[in-house]
Amino acid sequence: MITFVWAEDENGLIGKDGELPWHLPADMAFFKEITLTGDVAMGRKTLDSIPNPPLKNRVNYVLTRNEGFSQDGVEICHSKEELIERASASDKPLHVIGGVSLFNVFLDEVDMLYRTVIHESFEGDTYIPDIDYSQFELVEEKEGTVDEKNRHSHTFQIFKRKQ
Ligand SMILES: NC(=O)c1ccc[n+]([C@@H]2O[C@H](COP(=O)([O-])OP(=O)(O)OC[C@H]3O[C@@H](n4cnc5c(N)ncnc54)[C@H](OP(=O)(O)O)[C@@H]3O)[C@@H](O)[C@H]2O)c1
Repeated sequence: MITFVWAEDENGLIGKDGELPWHLPADMAFFKEITLTGDVAMGRKTLDSIPNPPLKNRVNYVLTRNEGFSQDGVEICHSKEELIERASASDKPLHVIGGVSLFNVFLDEVDMLYRTVIHESFEGDTYIPDIDYSQFELVEEKEGTVDEKNRHSHTFQIFKRKQ
């Protein structure tokens, strides 16, 4: 099973200057909870945005066109086909965690969407690609808690591809 896990603002913004545009620990916790159920796949730029990679206790597949690229603890792949082939050795879900190019690459294969919507408008440069939500049904929705550490109103949503 292939999933997407991401957070977007009310305009579909997901990134700014190679980083997240917001600070929302509750979403980081949600991201961790979901992705620990499987392995993760990401683009090389998203890898660069992670402090102290790899993400622990998950196989980290990273897509790059750079044949010379290597990094400890990370499984480097140079094509979608290679990534799918290697990840298929496991029964666990493959969680695609961005960025835009990875979401585009797996758009036709994705089975589930874990989307966090942050109900504000931020500045940035990277947007989630168009997803045809008519092909998915919303199966779970939960409002996040706003508090001292999580100042942005947000909602966690889970979509499943319709059969
Ligand atoms: N809000 C969220 O949930 C979320 C999630 C993820 C990322 N982000 C944000 O998004 C931004 C980074 O995302 P991005 O979209 O700019 O980059 P990205 O998708 O993470 O990485 C792009 C890189 O992936 C490699 N790549 C892409 N498609 C490939 C293919 N078909 N075959 C081989 N290699 C391929 C290339 O690496 P090489 O250049 O090495 O060849 C390309 O430059 C950051 O701001 C990050 O914080 C946000």
